[in-house]
Amino acid sequence: MSIAVSGPIVLVGAGNMGGAMLAGWLKSGVRGSDVLVIDPGPSPAVAKLLADSGVQHATVAPAGVKAGVIFVAVKPQVMETVLPPLKGLVAPQTVIVSVAAGKTLGFIERHLGEAATVRAMPNTPAMIGRGVTGAFANDRVSEAQRALVHDLLKVSGPVEWVRTEADIDAVTAVSGSGPAYVFYLVECMAEAGRKAGLEADLAMRLARETVAGAGELLHQSPDDAARLRQNVTSPGGTTAAALAVLMADDGMQPLFDRAIAAARKRAEELAGNSRRDSVSRGSL
Ligand SMILES: NC(=O)c1ccc[n+]([C@@H]2O[C@H](COP(=O)([O-])OP(=O)(O)OC[C@H]3O[C@@H](n4cnc5c(N)ncnc54)[C@H](OP(=O)(O)O)[C@@H]3O)[C@@H](O)[C@H]2O)c1
Repeated sequence: MSIAVSGPIVLVGAGNMGGAMLAGWLKSGVRGSDVLVIDPGPSPAVAKLLADSGVQHATVAPAGVKAGVIFVAVKPQVMETVLPPLKGLVAPQTVIVSVAAGKTLGFIERHLGEAATVRAMPNTPAMIGRGVTGAFANDRVSEAQRALVHDLLKVSGPVEWVRTEADIDAVTAVSGSGPAYVFYLVECMAEAGRKAGLEADLAMRLARETVAGAGELLHQSPDDAARLRQNVTSPGGTTAAALAVLMADDGMQPLFDRAIAAARKRAEELAGNSRRDSVSRGSL
């Protein structure tokens, strides 16, 4: 990846998500010398990556640095203390990217000022470069900055830009939390297999590989999910018998409607909390 950025890419928090993003950037051609990592205690694996790639490292925001990008990947609960010391890194050309769940653009702006800012919601498969990220940019983000952020995010998988910040809550409900639904699907299939007479371990291996293999087929195939489903459903066959249950009026669709509505509502509540936290401190 060739990046034109007028200042270092400052990664704040090199844990699971930040570390995976950093590894992806370096793998796709970002020069280590263009990156500064701020993290008080990187893991041994990240420390080795930093040493091997010439990435600069600091435990706190250094004075005199103006960032091209500030990529914030710390836990939401420490954002309140992590953001204020970063303000000195912000210059007119800086674009801020936050992946912290539930922390609104308004919250970030209250700490870092009126800067070009992107809220992004990746998901866990980003760890293996197979995530998907929903992103929303405020109106201070230029086309060039959006393209730069897109390039930085896409190392962990496709990037989908949404139209409103509220859509990030729906993205969180579908793809942010989504991997857990799929893992639970494996658990349910395995348990049903056990009840059908298989040994529990065998049922789990079958369920796990089925979901992983079906996911890979979906990933590689040009066909959409409905077409792939129809391809393996013979009229009157075993798959059709199971799908008649799963696709009934009281089957999976209403269940997923409720589950995703619940996740979205919770995301809205968390975003509301991040607004209220700041209001209660009089910073609005
Ligand atoms: N993991 C996911 O799948 C996922 C998906 C979507 C969004 N996210 C978002 O990604 C963010 C990071 O999650 P994560 O799972 O990567 O968390 P994590 O593994 O705990 O990583 C956070 C990193 O930030 C470091 N840190 C703590 N205080 C800091 C400070 N003052 N300055 C700089 N760095 C500091 C932590 O160091 P210590 O370990 O020493 O505290 C840790 O290395 C969260 O906001 C989460 O909402 C994660």
